[in-house]
Amino acid sequence: MTSIGSGKPQLACSFCGKRADEVTQLVEGPGVQICDGCVELCNEAVEEARGAAQGGSDGSELPRPWELRGFLDGYVIGQDTAKRALCVAVYNHYKRVRRAAALGAAGVELAKSNILLLGPTGSGKTLLTQSLARVLDVPYVAVDATGLTEAGYVGEDVDSILSKLLHAAGNDPRKAETGIVYLDEVDKLARSPQSATGGRDVSGEGVQQALLKILEGTVVTLSSGDRGAQAVRGRGYQSREPVRIDTSGILFIAAGAFSGLEEIVTKRQSRGSMGFGGALVPEDRPDRTGAAGVTPADLVKFGLIPEFIGRFPVITALRKLDRDDLLRILTEPRDAPVKQYQALFELDGVQLEFEPEALEVIADEAIRRETGARGLRGILEESLIPTMYDIPSLRDVVRVTVTPDVVTDGAEPVFTLEEAGGARRAASGG
Ligand SMILES: Nc1ncnc2c1ncn2[C@@H]1O[C@H](COP(=O)(O)OP(=O)(O)O)[C@@H](O)[C@H]1O
Ligand SMILES: [Mg+2]
Repeated sequence: MTSIGSGKPQLACSFCGKRADEVTQLVEGPGVQICDGCVELCNEAVEEARGAAQGGSDGSELPRPWELRGFLDGYVIGQDTAKRALCVAVYNHYKRVRRAAALGAAGVELAKSNILLLGPTGSGKTLLTQSLARVLDVPYVAVDATGLTEAGYVGEDVDSILSKLLHAAGNDPRKAETGIVYLDEVDKLARSPQSATGGRDVSGEGVQQALLKILEGTVVTLSSGDRGAQAVRGRGYQSREPVRIDTSGILFIAAGAFSGLEEIVTKRQSRGSMGFGGALVPEDRPDRTGAAGVTPADLVKFGLIPEFIGRFPVITALRKLDRDDLLRILTEPRDAPVKQYQALFELDGVQLEFEPEALEVIADEAIRRETGARGLRGILEESLIPTMYDIPSLRDVVRVTVTPDVVTDGAEPVFTLEEAGGARRAASGG
């Protein structure tokens, strides 16, 4: 506390020890002093802790589950159970990631919450995941699990997933570490004959094994060679330095149709109710029972390895979309197919209308094709192509009304002409 030689005591910062003449300002408290530099450091620490408590350490607020839900509702129809489960899991995941970033090694490790989505084709699995990545503004990559191979085999190994994610993150490794990886068709990695779709036997199991580490959280070193293919396609990664990516902050959302799984579940449930040993066997971790009553044991029976399933603490199911859902999907989402075609026709100064029955036959046709909502756009496109071909040359048409027979028989829609007031079926060549 006293400076040697001056004979006069000089105050110093109680935190860093710097003397009053070494700092810009020294604030005195009862028996203690703090310098301006240490005040600044304390402020930063307080800000950081505040950020961690609120969820955001980078200044931005982490959207709450209900906010995420609100955004999803704008694009995805129905699927309430899956939406809820996803929003909570995604919120928890990013809360954990931000907390870890703020606290460093000091924090308690919170378990990773990768998500497994079960649901028929065209029910919105990809759409949900994509929409989440969009609202969170994080890098996103979708990978088909059937295209993956074990390291050492010809094809894309699991590290290629990270190369793609790095590319999606503009070659910023820290940004890539906050991304979302969508692993599609994981049901095709199943080994068991139980899966009606036919598994891929041993090699599928090998891919599951290879995925375990990155699902769990590990540091992967990508050599410039690994990134080569991506770099060529993209703007080009200049550095030849290997890039290290920690996967513990990456959210993996796996998805599959899992056809045949329902039978496994039903069989188990009926066995339980018949009391054939059912009463003696404890319920298989009922807390992890998915929306459709699926347990991890069912998925093992399906042919996935237990360790792989264990990496997905959140399992949720999307249901098959019914006629009402399909009708809503045609018109309600922000980017609904009907809205898009209306906007397209608007560019030609034409109002596009659909009779309610026309939308119904489109929904019915989609159901017949068994492609979920995926078929809707195609059916609309097929129905509208002839009209879209003619309309730019039909100058006096102000409105096009699509009737059911346009969809079912390729009939011409009703054209309303300018000034004429009434509707008539105009000769399309006209
Ligand atoms: N629940 C839904 N709400 C709105 N549109 C949907 C929904 N499900 C599917 N779609 C539409 O169908 C297309 C295919 O859906 P997708 O999410 O790829 O299905 P999945 O991944 O389950 O096979 C989407 O691009 C979207 O246009
Ligand atoms: Mg999909």
